[in-house]
Amino acid sequence: MSQFSLSVNGQQRSVDADPDTPLLWILRDHLGLLGTKYGCGKGICGACTIHFNGAAMRSCQLPVAAASTGQITTIEGLAKDGKLTAVQEAWIEEDVPQCGYCQSGQIMSATALLTRNPKPSDEEIDSAMSGNLCRCATYTRIRKAIHTAATS
Ligand code: FES
Ligand code: FES
Repeated sequence: MSQFSLSVNGQQRSVDADPDTPLLWILRDHLGLLGTKYGCGKGICGACTIHFNGAAMRSCQLPVAAASTGQITTIEGLAKDGKLTAVQEAWIEEDVPQCGYCQSGQIMSATALLTRNPKPSDEEIDSAMSGNLCRCATYTRIRKAIHTAATS
């Protein structure tokens, strides 16, 4: 066990863990941030997507020892002072979620996409979002919501 200081959603958090513990389990089990989901644990499904220094990253693939070097943002850290982001508002407007399980990862990937590409094409959206799987097949509404957020 080692102690790590993590910057999570703008706050410094201290955790005791084995250095190779995936950040996903630190967020969920140590810090109680349950918005980040476990799907495959292998970097394939995107359910565990967070932002690390502003870029979308699979938290199941990021050891806590590496995570302590950067800024971590989870779905809980997107809204500021109770105000939802344009992406979150678009998700509501387009009624995107079905079961909802994959949606925090989808929103984190979509947010990172719009940060680096504010007006993505359908092809750019499909490419950027291809690593986020949805067993409910909400892909059409996800793409529509990203366009809605891009024009808001
Ligand atoms: S749980 Fe991390 S990519 Fe599936
Ligand atoms: S909304 Fe059910 S898995 Fe995506």
